[in-house]
Amino acid sequence: MLKKIVFAATFFTVFTILIQACVYHKGDQQYPSANNSCDTTNVSYRVDIKAILDENCSPCHYEGNDVSFINLYDYETISGLALDGQFTYGTLLSAVMHEGGAPEMPKGPGSPKLQDCDINKIAAWVHHGAKDN
Ligand code: HEC
Repeated sequence: MLKKIVFAATFFTVFTILIQACVYHKGDQQYPSANNSCDTTNVSYRVDIKAILDENCSPCHYEGNDVSFINLYDYETISGLALDGQFTYGTLLSAVMHEGGAPEMPKGPGSPKLQDCDINKIAAWVHHGAKDN
């Protein structure tokens, strides 16, 4: 009889701990998604787009560069690629979305696709006319 009670008590304790672990786990997951809300209103070329370039594209794309010969830091160049209507979403957006047949950017096996938020910011900037803002 005592054994049964001990077993039941142990089972109940373990069960309770497991349930709580699940609750905590859920809480943990909710925090980052709340912090990761992606603000795509008023995306600026000089601030937001250049920050994405600095972080992800600058090893290969910069003025006078001999890797790609494409200077994305030149407004005329990047806005031209954004609005050229080539591939499915224009060259720039198709490249970072990895959709529509453009060369996939960032290039190379060591360079993963951009984070969704960065892609969404570039898309918002392009859809608002790729302005020099
Ligand atoms: C590892 C080097 C490298 C990185 C990093 C890189 N690129 Fe490129 N990019 C190239 C090369 C090389 C080309 C020339 C076309 C080709 O070889 O695919 C190119 C071409 C392009 C083109 C033009 C494609 C065309 O068909 O005209 C765009 C747009 C572009 N890159 C955007 C980006 C963006 C945006 C990033 C950062 C998110 C990025 N690239 C990061 C190397 C790179």
